[in-house]
Formats: sequence, C-alpha cells, structure tokens
Amino acid sequence: MSTVMNPDISATLATLTGRSLLLTQDWTQPELEALLAVATRFYELDRAGVRAPLCPHELAYAIFFDNSTRTKSAWAGAAARLGMQPVIVDGSSTQVAHGETAEETGAMLGMNAHGLGVRHDLILGEGNSFMRDMLKGITDYLVATDDQRTVPMVNLQCDIDHPTQTLADLLWLRQNFGSDLRGKKIAVSWAYSPSYAKPLSVPQGLATLLSRQGADIVLAHPEGYELLPETMAAAKANAAQHGGSFRITNSMDDAFEGAVAVYPKSWGPYDLMMERVAANKAGDKAQMGDIEQRCLANNARHRDWICDERRMGLTKDGSALYLHCLPADIGDEVTHGVMDLHRVNVAREAQWKVYVIMAMLAVGKVDGLAQKLASL
Ligand code: CP
Repeated sequence: MSTVMNPDISATLATLTGRSLLLTQDWTQPELEALLAVATRFYELDRAGVRAPLCPHELAYAIFFDNSTRTKSAWAGAAARLGMQPVIVDGSSTQVAHGETAEETGAMLGMNAHGLGVRHDLILGEGNSFMRDMLKGITDYLVATDDQRTVPMVNLQCDIDHPTQTLADLLWLRQNFGSDLRGKKIAVSWAYSPSYAKPLSVPQGLATLLSRQGADIVLAHPEGYELLPETMAAAKANAAQHGGSFRITNSMDDAFEGAVAVYPKSWGPYDLMMERVAANKAGDKAQMGDIEQRCLANNARHRDWICDERRMGLTKDGSALYLHCLPADIGDEVTHGVMDLHRVNVAREAQWKVYVIMAMLAVGKVDGLAQKLASL
C-alpha cells in the first residue's frame, strides 16, 4: 500500500492546516483520503527507519477522562516521532473535577501546548461537545492574543466516535484487502462482555466510516443494544452515496455469513446508557453503580454472542480477518482459540493508530506538509 503524495492530495492537504478531526463524519472523503495517505507515508517512513521530526520542540498534551493503554501509547509514540514532547494527564486530576469548564480548560492547556488530545467517552451527549467547547476555548484565546500557532485537537475517543481507532482499522483492512473494499462484506457485531458497559463510540464510528468505502456493512446486535440514531442515519446515507450497503440485524450468524472481516465487540444497552446521562448529571454515584450492574445483568442474557470457531466457520472461506479495538474479554467476547489465531493481527491493527495520530497532528500543524514528506 505504498503512497506518494499525488497533486490532488497535496492540494487537499493545503486546506487542512489548523483543522481538527472531532468526527470522521465532519470531513469530506478527499480530506479523509489525504489524511490516510499521510498516515500511510508515516508508516512507510517509520518502517524504513526514516525519522520525521516535523514539529520539534513542541508540546503534545493529552487529557484522558477514561482508562487507556493503546491510545496513550500511540499518542506518546506519535508525538515522539514528530519531535514533540508528549504529556499525558488523567482528566480526573484536573480542575475539571472542581467545575472548571471545557472552554476554560481548552484555553489554559492550549496557551502552552501545540497539539491537544482528549478522551471523554463514557457519558452519551458529553464527550464530543466537551471537545468542541475545549477547541473553542483554545481558538478564542489564540485569536484574542493574535497568536499564530495552530493547536489542533485530536479526538482520542468520545461518546459518538473513536476516529483514531476506526481510521487505524480502515488502514489495517486496506493492508489486508487492498484499498478497494467495494463488495466486501464486513460484520460489526455486539459481543457479550461481563466486565463493564462499554461505550457506543467504536461501533458507531465503524458504521459511519466503513459505510463510506463501498463495502457491505452488516451491524448485528441483540434487541436493546441500538446505537445513536443519528449515526445509523449517517451510515445509511453514506452507503447510499458511496455505492455500498449498510443493514442492521439481530443475528450474529447472519452478520458473519460470508464476511471477509468480523469486528465483534461489546457495548452497553442503549436505554441504560441514556439513564446514565441523567444520573451522571445529578452526580448520583449510587445510581451510576446501580445502572452499571443492570447493564451487566442485561449483557448476561446474551452470553451466546461470542466470536467462536463455529461462527468464524460461517465467514468467507471460513477465514475472515478478526478485528478488535482491544482490550477484548477473552473467553466471553471471543474464544481463546480465535484470539490466539489473531493475536498478532490485532496488535498490527492497533499499531496503525500511532501513524493516524501523527497524521492528524501533522496535517493540522505543518505548512507545506506534502513537500516536506516527499523530501524525507
Ligand atoms: N482501543 C483503544 O482505544 O484502546 P485503549 O482504550 O487501550 O486506548
């Protein structure tokens, strides 16, 4: 999947300086393709041992309001490869916990940083709007002080989307199947988890992004595990526009049959995730705990939603590529045997995230990026 910066991509890149990617749905297809070309170029350079310190002596500041292994590591890896200094902070340790607004936080962090990453994914209706308010805080500060710096914000997972994950997933799919995914069936399925009520953003982000590839996307979940209606409407519209298809089924087998790739992972039941919004607003910790237990009890009614050897046998030639954003509940979402077969695959899938984050930072910050990348 070698990439050269063709003139169309160079022209598009020139329009992206200063831009932040808060939802893949906000960017046009040429803009996303330009970003993916840059990520691929960074991957190739890294594999060839060529350094790309395009943002030396700058601060890449990330704030996480939820746990993370891969994304934190990818943020640090991306910043270091660009010559930036990465700093990663636990959101609960900031003054946001004491009522500081998102706009104030954005201004305070942005006045010192040169790129901001945020994870805020647990409560529906909150994460993406928090990021937008933070971005407004930075932007207003930079304008008011006539500061010419660009401080792009990178969505490191919100309540609606997980763009660094889904773009990494797309690059991994392309690495396996080529850049033309038209006519390929891809299953995104709910799977049973006993561990916690997981955010909706990964399946939503996959539905909205993969439906723009001309592929045949089948989303499977038990009744009661619906996703945000606006993301489903966007996925349907995308498929109609890009020549693929998008449909929803309540059967995991139906989704797996003939699929070239399967992405089975858990998320929380829709109604309870909505109940959590009100409990969180009220600061009612006891109710939050009660809702979590009800989510897990609900999940337990669907223990048979597991990615196992029988279901993998239903896929195209019985050999679909298994994807997962990780961490997976091994033994519950997926059998030990299936995971053992794909352990290196899911690590390679995750590794694309470092190059996607590099691309998001570089695209937003570096003037003449296409020329600079070509000269490395
Ligand atoms: N998939 C993913 O975003 O991993 P982390 O939660 O570990 O960052």
